[in-house]
Amino acid sequence: MSDSALRDGYGIPVIKRKLTIVGAGAVGTSALHWAMQKAVAEEIVLIDVVKGLSEGKALDAVQSSSLCRFSGQITGTTDYEATKGSHCVIITAGLARRPGMSRDDLLDKNIKIVSSVTENIIRYSPETVLIVVTNPIDAMVYTAFKVSGLPKSRVIGMAGALDSARYRCLIARELGVSPEDVSALVMGIHGDNMLPLTRLASVGGVPVEAIIPRERLEEIVKKTQHGGAEIVGLLKTQSAFTTPGLCAVEMAEAVLRDKRRVLPCAAYLEGEFGVNGLFLGAPVVIGGAGIERIIEFPLTDEEKDALKLSVEAVERQVEAVNRLLM
Ligand code: LAC
Repeated sequence: MSDSALRDGYGIPVIKRKLTIVGAGAVGTSALHWAMQKAVAEEIVLIDVVKGLSEGKALDAVQSSSLCRFSGQITGTTDYEATKGSHCVIITAGLARRPGMSRDDLLDKNIKIVSSVTENIIRYSPETVLIVVTNPIDAMVYTAFKVSGLPKSRVIGMAGALDSARYRCLIARELGVSPEDVSALVMGIHGDNMLPLTRLASVGGVPVEAIIPRERLEEIVKKTQHGGAEIVGLLKTQSAFTTPGLCAVEMAEAVLRDKRRVLPCAAYLEGEFGVNGLFLGAPVVIGGAGIERIIEFPLTDEEKDALKLSVEAVERQVEAVNRLLM
């Protein structure tokens, strides 16, 4: 999908990376901000159904370009034609949670939104990599997979990156160290049954189980599992957006720069971790073509049991998706 009209001084085609962000709500706007800050693409399109919204947000963002040193092109639009030839698309469109709502409460409405967005995107970017952020993520990424007809490697759900970021942050605060030195993995559903893997969490290479008491670790796990709900409870009219936007952009950057980042993401599992035919959070390698591989490793019996709860919850969501897509 390189732009053959664009050549450098030696006549060599220059690859102009194009990122589309669908949905100019809080997460989409945050993703735009981070994408500019990290200059992950030369062209960024923000699209929303509400007339004026993405245009206004894009204009606001453009005005920061001299300050954040972004020299690419930013377009706000309601017209999917402007998304043509996107290498990567972040889908954030959909309703967000309000206090007291679970992510599942959004299912019916967001299936319709994500289906229609996916159809429109694929019409203009049939080979793109889709990163789905809309909740409930594990079901929405399945929806985008089914509707798009893309290979499983090109459809990825953003969830584990966010949950792991929260987990790492909480561990760092407990130990009074920099979050960047904490390595930790959250697998499974993006919901109450997500599985923060305490056994594998470490700080500067030291296992956290050796330096944080068990009951404190259990509290950290619970706080991670309710990290999203805690923010919804405080914000009341919306859910978290800064970190979700950044996590989506980290994934997009791995695609656009072919970085082969190892990130926990919702990937379509076909036998890995004993799961079949579902998107579920697992560690994956993300590069230019999307998911290059899923990193499978042995789970303990206790972890397997915990993962089953995720599987059952996602299966229920997927049944609803299959019913509605028929
Ligand atoms: C959260 C939402 C994005 O976890 O699901 O904050």
